[in-house]
Amino acid sequence: MALDKMEDLSLQETVTRAETDEVEGVTLTKAICSTWDQVWNFRARPDDLLIATYAKAGTTWTQEIVDMIQHNADIQKCRRTSTYKRHPFIEWFLPKSAPQSYSGLELAEAMPSPRTLKTHLPVQLVPPSFWEQNCKIIYMARNAKDSLVSYYHFHRMNNIMPDPGTWEEFVEKFMAGKVLWGSWYDHVKGWWKAKDKNRILYLFYEDMKENPKHEIQKIMKFLEKDVEKEVLSQILHHTTFEKMKENPMANYTKDFEGIMDHSVSPFMRKGVVGDWKNYFTVAQNEKFDEDYKKKMSDTSLVFRTEL
Ligand code: A3P
Repeated sequence: MALDKMEDLSLQETVTRAETDEVEGVTLTKAICSTWDQVWNFRARPDDLLIATYAKAGTTWTQEIVDMIQHNADIQKCRRTSTYKRHPFIEWFLPKSAPQSYSGLELAEAMPSPRTLKTHLPVQLVPPSFWEQNCKIIYMARNAKDSLVSYYHFHRMNNIMPDPGTWEEFVEKFMAGKVLWGSWYDHVKGWWKAKDKNRILYLFYEDMKENPKHEIQKIMKFLEKDVEKEVLSQILHHTTFEKMKENPMANYTKDFEGIMDHSVSPFMRKGVVGDWKNYFTVAQNEKFDEDYKKKMSDTSLVFRTEL
């Protein structure tokens, strides 16, 4: 057997799907729970920018846009390293024994200011120093059904995520909020409420899809950054789904080899609004909508599930 094949095999053998535990009722990986005190005591700096999302809401997209704005659309600078190293994912932790270790905390601590950081934490679990330092936060939200579909495929292709089970089982887990980073419903509602009292720019994936120029301009305003017309065009061009899909520093093909299997489902999968229609049965959709109405009855937050 060729050596590279053998290495590939041995790597796959050591990849195990994450076990989960909870912090204040929110499902997280056991590895994150084991470092929770350090996450909670994370020392934010006043000029930190935090990009917060529920998983699969378009985090990587937002990160690329922000990086492009911060670097005046200098593509080389934005390709300095992959997304998850450019912007430390603060709570994410893979121990040294893992095939690819990662400590968002260590990465962040070693990074000079100004830092851009990423989190999937629900608002109540965000380390208090972010509020004490009055950091700017960009929150990107995506409708529940497309988030669910994207999350299901991500579990399938990422062999360190918990086993998603069947599609039917995953839909149930998602509705019960028993997936990693907890309930989608509580997440989007919690951050929606927090935006009224904090420096949070709350964005929607669907708006970004519909009118990226407008949404990118909102981000620029929030970051107090003005760029030339041509630079804005460059940002728009470079952050399309098609461009990001072929960008090895954004599409996760250069990292997590043997962990993420893009042949099962690529990280840059479809990048559209409304793909849920290809997955939900009529009965599933009715049940989901009924449950959704109840869970979202106490918020003014409205999502679009199609454009
Ligand atoms: P799909 O699985 O629906 O395709 P995250 O970065 O939060 O993990 O989100 C990943 C989702 O965002 C994936 O959704 C991915 O395809 C989509 N995405 C990434 N870059 C995008 C872009 N430039 N435009 C639209 N969607 C994008």
